[in-house]
Amino acid sequence: MAVKKTTRKASKKKSKTVSAGTKKSWGGRLTSQADAATAKLLASLDVDTLLWRYDIAGSIAHAQMLTEQKILKKSEFHKIKRGLMSVATDIETGKVHLDIALEDIHMVIESALIKKIGTVGGKLHTGRSRNDQVALDLRLWARDAVDLLVADIENLQYAFVSLAAEQGSVVMPAYTHLQRAQPILAGHAMLAYVEMLQRDLERLADARKRINISPLGSAAVAGTSIPLNRQRTAQLLGFDDITRNSIDATSDRDFLTELCFAVSQLGVHLSRWAEDWIIYSSTEFGLIELDDAYCTSSSMMPQKKNPDTLELIRGKSANFIAQLTGMLTLMKSLPMAYGRDMQDDKRFAFEAVETMRDTLGVAAGIVRTVKINAKNIAANIDKGFLDATALAEYLVNKGIPFRTAHGIVGKLVAQADKKGLALSELSLAALQKACKKIEADVSKFLTAKNVVKHYAPDGAGGAKQLKKQLAFWKKKLK
Ligand code: ARG
Repeated sequence: MAVKKTTRKASKKKSKTVSAGTKKSWGGRLTSQADAATAKLLASLDVDTLLWRYDIAGSIAHAQMLTEQKILKKSEFHKIKRGLMSVATDIETGKVHLDIALEDIHMVIESALIKKIGTVGGKLHTGRSRNDQVALDLRLWARDAVDLLVADIENLQYAFVSLAAEQGSVVMPAYTHLQRAQPILAGHAMLAYVEMLQRDLERLADARKRINISPLGSAAVAGTSIPLNRQRTAQLLGFDDITRNSIDATSDRDFLTELCFAVSQLGVHLSRWAEDWIIYSSTEFGLIELDDAYCTSSSMMPQKKNPDTLELIRGKSANFIAQLTGMLTLMKSLPMAYGRDMQDDKRFAFEAVETMRDTLGVAAGIVRTVKINAKNIAANIDKGFLDATALAEYLVNKGIPFRTAHGIVGKLVAQADKKGLALSELSLAALQKACKKIEADVSKFLTAKNVVKHYAPDGAGGAKQLKKQLAFWKKKLK
């Protein structure tokens, strides 16, 4: 985007008014019109045009309710409804001029309607303000956004579950502090991400309860003397309830902040996964191989296969956090009720949801196409003493207090490490020298492969637990 230079001279000149002649229909009180820069500042059309479908649906429901309340004549309702539907077609086909002098999509639609059907179109805004109108549109949008995000998350969960089912029987290291800790089945590692995603999904579903409440009828701030039936518009638009307080209803944007938080938390989860896989795909780790479609090469180094998509996913969390911070900062200290500051809420929320949807789609592709490097993992699995904890637990089963067992195994690890051996490569005599209770059956408990056979409780990294988890997720995701 080219940035226009504003010279001192240019800014001193009185700038032209925008679309001279399109005096705002709601501007009766005002005697002069905005210049171009002011009109641009006031306008949100570049962002809120996205709301047009919700705005039209809300308007049709409002007009229908006004008709049922005998505030509009049936013939007027039919004209308004047909007019709105025709405006919808015009917007869809790009025939409506998005005149920024009209500020926002609400006024563009109303003015297009009046142009089409005449002054009867001016009856639509009876008992309504843009303040409750925009709150309504945003709630309708956020409800859809949640439903789409939930479907996107389920799609990604499905990819992880399939990966766990198809390639999950490989024994790999689990890490803490990014150091080898204990062996697990790869499927267990993959399903950890599914759990994170499930909380994100549930957070969104919970936010939806607070989103799906109709503010329509709250008007500008205090309600209206027009006898609206708020329950009826709520019902027509699929809301669960109506808001109780018109001041709160027109000034509340918590639902967008909450949505941005749910997206941020999801983004942070994705960044942890991305970081794992960036590390796992390096030569040093060599646990996974990403599909070429999700990698790029270097303009200079011909051998490079870089995990750029994962890096971008890792980086996107910065955007989501910025958008959440934006929402919180926008609303902080804002006096009740509506303030124009709130117009910029959309920039944060829309961007967050759009970017997250794109990110989730790419993430699912990465997961669907990844290869777990079974051979390489197996070749290195008995490095790093992944079976040390299991050996201590073997001693516990022989009646030795865990703290004592921990000390014995620690010494054995130091011995083996010095000789460049694995614990399973120490002789029985050497093991027994460290602890008399060790018997020949110890070999069944050493090596990573054996350790995973003995995991006992639910939620651990072994085969029976993986089977249980897979059954759970397959049923849940169908
Ligand atoms: N476009 C505005 C917004 O998105 C709604 C208009 C409310 N304007 C007003 N002056 N009360 O917040």
